[in-house]
Amino acid sequence: MAILVTGGLGYIGSHTCVELMNAGRDIVVVDNLYNCKKSSYDRIKALVGRDFKFYECDIRDAKGLAKIFENEDIDSVIHFAGLKSVPESVREPLKYFDNNINGTLVLLDVMRNHGCKKIVFSSSATVYGINNVSPLTEDMEVGGVTNPYGRTKYMIECILKDLCTSDEEWSVCLLRYFNPIGAHKSGTMGEEPNGIPANLMPYITQVAIGKLEYLNVNGSDFDTPDGTGVRDYIHVVDLSIGHLKAVDKIEGENGLFIYNLGTGVGYSVLDVVNAFEKASGVKIPYKIGPRRAGDVATCYSNSSKAFKELGWKAERGIEEMCEDSWRWQKQNPNGYPD
Ligand code: NAD
Ligand code: WQD
Repeated sequence: MAILVTGGLGYIGSHTCVELMNAGRDIVVVDNLYNCKKSSYDRIKALVGRDFKFYECDIRDAKGLAKIFENEDIDSVIHFAGLKSVPESVREPLKYFDNNINGTLVLLDVMRNHGCKKIVFSSSATVYGINNVSPLTEDMEVGGVTNPYGRTKYMIECILKDLCTSDEEWSVCLLRYFNPIGAHKSGTMGEEPNGIPANLMPYITQVAIGKLEYLNVNGSDFDTPDGTGVRDYIHVVDLSIGHLKAVDKIEGENGLFIYNLGTGVGYSVLDVVNAFEKASGVKIPYKIGPRRAGDVATCYSNSSKAFKELGWKAERGIEEMCEDSWRWQKQNPNGYPD
């Protein structure tokens, strides 16, 4: 029995593949290589010391996916495949609705046709929108999202909930990630943003390595202790381990399960800059600029439900997140090899 990992060569997917295989699970990966390099596959194999099946295929390709289900003994799916840039989604909403929503619909249809009804979905804290107050809990109303990317996550959550209501054989786990950063301890796997990073940590590491001159801090007039935005950063390896627990859950029970995966602690932009400087010994020059459209002041989780029901909690602190992000950037100044 194997777990199909869609988007398994990407940032979170690759780290999850390592944790799954280290835990003795068999995996099959499907990725269209849109936002990753094939060398990520080699790096996963090298770390684990074991091979696995990789299919280069788009999840919108129903025939291609069906063949994978026919060739492999797939029992459950972890669904990472998707586009994730907020600013790009504002410019190109149809691309996001097609890839993320249509892609998920095709995947679910092929799964159902092959009797596979267990799925873990990569959702996001973004579904809590701008109207909820942190700490965010799973029972809060979702949907007040501010951009097309976030709307795809919210809509896919709705689709999966309706599917569970329609057929009690489905088992669905929605994992709402907070802000994943960090990298594998080995320094061989990490996040490789396309172009100029939109997210804080890859921007900081590129300033540290000299690719970018300084960090633009998006506003210092928020209602937070130092005026900069507060977020719940979580180490990507902790996040990956959360997926192992989620798969155990859906293997044991049918129904719909929703969990926040965060640390429950909020750090400001300047806290992260300070922690990074301490971990790396590199000074990060920054300039305070205007707020970024759609940003909330504070966003952090209450992740106690995942602890109670899955026995999962984040173990790695902000220092380790910074050290590991820096090691990855230093060892791979140009990301994964072509
Ligand atoms: P990523 O871009 O590194 O990984 C996604 C992978 O999916 C890539 O390897 C890409 O090539 C692949 N992919 C995209 N569309 C595909 C398609 N149509 N068919 C096949 N493969 C496809 O992103 P990530 O940071 O690893 O995120 C993984 C998932 O987690 C995404 O769904 C993302 O929206 C979600 N998420 C990410 C964050 C974050 O901050 N990184 C936060 C919350 C949720
Ligand atoms: C963190 C903080 C910025 C860059 C995004 C998505 C969310 C989820 C995770 C997928 C904020 C500030 C950033 C910079 C800065 N992704 N910042 N200068 O916005 O919390 O969440 O990624 O689901 O949906 O919206 O993360 O890393 O972009 O920003 O000052 O150059 O850093 O304003 O306060 P965010 P982020």
